[in-house]
Amino acid sequence: MTTENSGDVRLSGISKTYDNGFTAVQPLDLTVPHGSFFALLGASGCGKTTTLRMIAGLEEPSSGTVHLGDQEVTNLPPYKRPVNTVFQSYALFPHLDIFENVAFGLRRRGIKSVKKQVEEMLDLVQLGEQARKKPHQLSGGQQQRVAVARALINHPKVLLLDEPLGALDLKLRRQMQLELKRIQTEVGITFVHVTHDQEEAMTMADTVAVMNAGRVEQLGSPADLYENPQTTFVANFLGTSNLIEAEVDTRSGEDIVLKAGGGKLVLPRARCSAPAQTGGKVLVGIRPEKISLTHADDAGEIPAGRNRITGRIADSSFIGVSTQYVIDSAVCPEFEVYAQNIERDSRLVPGAEVVLHWSPAHTFGLDAAQDIDAGVDTAEEEAA
Ligand SMILES: Nc1ncnc2c1ncn2[C@@H]1O[C@H](COP(=O)(O)OP(=O)(O)OP(=O)(O)O)[C@@H](O)[C@H]1O
Ligand SMILES: [Mg+2]
Repeated sequence: MTTENSGDVRLSGISKTYDNGFTAVQPLDLTVPHGSFFALLGASGCGKTTTLRMIAGLEEPSSGTVHLGDQEVTNLPPYKRPVNTVFQSYALFPHLDIFENVAFGLRRRGIKSVKKQVEEMLDLVQLGEQARKKPHQLSGGQQQRVAVARALINHPKVLLLDEPLGALDLKLRRQMQLELKRIQTEVGITFVHVTHDQEEAMTMADTVAVMNAGRVEQLGSPADLYENPQTTFVANFLGTSNLIEAEVDTRSGEDIVLKAGGGKLVLPRARCSAPAQTGGKVLVGIRPEKISLTHADDAGEIPAGRNRITGRIADSSFIGVSTQYVIDSAVCPEFEVYAQNIERDSRLVPGAEVVLHWSPAHTFGLDAAQDIDAGVDTAEEEAA
């Protein structure tokens, strides 16, 4: 097997235009590595379910091919594909007990001695004690685990999960995220998990594909996406970013020097995904937790070599482990800064003049031709 073919799920040029002419998925290439936990993350309507359904064979692609392992399955019906799907509405059989719900796939295939396998599956999802209960006697999280066991008992190559935790309350969701991750690690099967919840994707997945309007904007490990966003959508949709429009002043060695609001900022060239011609525009990004705040009276104590911006505290909210500040400055009207509560400077209150400063190494640069606010509203709506 060549490396190129070793992905468990390989989508090549796959797209979907529905009968009404609407293109839900633009031609897409995607390889999901064998045995990985892969998340498709994006706002409502971006094409996640459509993509998943094309992998499952429930939706016919308008173009492109689907491979599972070495096998091309583009024209195979769903039941001939080595995949199983768990949906948000897990639709257990209400009249069957938990044991029989899990045994269903085996019995349908004419397998008589199911006890050992079903018991193993119930142990895997930690429901051994509940085998003789009916679905309505279980909690939402327990029912969801039955749905996972029911899908896994068929030993699919790939398990597809479409917002499987969507119906659960927040606390249960968090528990189930860890639980699903544990199950995936234990069985080693490739999981493709669809979610609109960025925290969920980041907690669970080895690799996340961020989708926006039918395209994959960026793909990478959660830390890589967070630290090195390549588009404004990813920068704003995953966590919070401060984005400043700046002009390229000079390029010196490994660095780009930029002009912003009368001051200068340094950006490592390797962290800039834009062309950055002298005189051209670049969006400079910095995450709120990477910034330190110093009262203007102490500005002389800030070490040399740091990027700095002056401003005034517009708002602050104390949230226990950290304090979140909103700073009004010449380069950005609402700069967000998160400060850990170690030793609090009592002068840092609304109205105070401050200097924001950070290591140039934490700065990233994006193409200024993009919408600076892309993904901001989507992230807020999804959080609501
Ligand atoms: N059968 C269909 N005919 C026409 N348009 C469709 C059809 N199914 C889905 N769409 C449209 O395609 C787009 C993508 O839908 P899809 O269900 O893949 O989104 P999603 O990312 O899963 O969203 P959500 O998070 O809300 O589940 C949406 O704009 C949707 O309205
Ligand atoms: Mg969906």
